[in-house]
Amino acid sequence: MDTPTPLRSGFGHDSTADDVLAGSDLGGRFAVVTGGYSGLGLEMTRSLARAGAEVLVPARRPDRAGEVLADVPRASVAALDLSDQADVRRLAGDVRAAGRPVDLVVNAAGIMRGPRTTVGPGWEAHLAVHHLGHFTLTVLLAPVLAEGARVVGLSSAGHFLSDMRWEDPHFARPGAYDRWTAYGQSKTAVSLAALHLDGLLAPRGAHAFSVHPGSILTPLQREVPLRTRRELGWVVGEDDRPAPGFKTPEQGAATAVWAATSPLLEGHGGAYCQDCDIAAPADSDDMLAGGVKPWVLDRGAAERLWWWSAGATGVGAVL
Ligand SMILES: NC(=O)c1ccc[n+]([C@@H]2O[C@H](COP(=O)([O-])OP(=O)(O)OC[C@H]3O[C@@H](n4cnc5c(N)ncnc54)[C@H](OP(=O)(O)O)[C@@H]3O)[C@@H](O)[C@H]2O)c1
Repeated sequence: MDTPTPLRSGFGHDSTADDVLAGSDLGGRFAVVTGGYSGLGLEMTRSLARAGAEVLVPARRPDRAGEVLADVPRASVAALDLSDQADVRRLAGDVRAAGRPVDLVVNAAGIMRGPRTTVGPGWEAHLAVHHLGHFTLTVLLAPVLAEGARVVGLSSAGHFLSDMRWEDPHFARPGAYDRWTAYGQSKTAVSLAALHLDGLLAPRGAHAFSVHPGSILTPLQREVPLRTRRELGWVVGEDDRPAPGFKTPEQGAATAVWAATSPLLEGHGGAYCQDCDIAAPADSDDMLAGGVKPWVLDRGAAERLWWWSAGATGVGAVL
């Protein structure tokens, strides 16, 4: 991929999803937002709906999602566990059967730093949920993507922590598992998948992007003990408030919504974005400063991941 260059979008670190969508009319648009009932996904759902979009929120806890979204107009809920490939196929089939073209897919559902967990055929849980679950969902929704549709994957500066571990992606080797490495690899996978998917979608006028939303305290950090959050400098002061540089959830939702809608991104398909712009190459290992590491811009690795994923899931050989 060419060296990524920010576009000077006019939005930035402090912009909110509502700022990005101010003046936008998404009436008649249909969006699917996984995880759209918590943290950043919830703010994306609210903003997209406020701008007029109808938003389907596939949810691991549909009852909870129904409660949270009860006051959000044009939002609806469907059950989905992304760690269960059969469930992903069922949900995608239901959406296809409904016959409505999908304009936006925002793959926001996620987990962080959990203990070693395997799902299905021994898949590591971060990789299974963040990448393989969303891979199957997106591939199976591809036939009903509207002209000009966008697919946005929630990656993370966590991609700094690991390239693809091709020799042992599921941490099957004894002692190999590390919570942060697992999170990091899965986020690298999200970005690589967007890079390759964009090329597959481009002929039909649709595009894929991945985004780092920033650093935001949400339920995502439930597996990170408070002591660790303090040591990492994520919270400060007697009241453990978010550290300087952290965003609010409304700000954390902005980059995904921007990637889902900004006309500026035409011609930049596959880009990794942060702070409502294309991310520049990372010039340090400071994840709060962000930027993009070269291994998520590697088209060869993106194609390799695509075919590896197609083999694992049984979908994706043809879009
Ligand atoms: N917060 C940050 O600082 C940050 C930074 C970089 C990247 N991100 C990424 O941004 C995304 C959203 O994070 P967030 O902070 O909004 O987290 P969050 O508040 O925990 O929301 C994540 C959502 O994903 C859902 N989910 C988890 N596993 C699932 C599964 N197997 N099937 C279906 N849904 C599932 C969760 O469901 P439950 O409510 O049922 O658990 C929750 O609704 C994640 O992909 C995360 O990695 C966040």
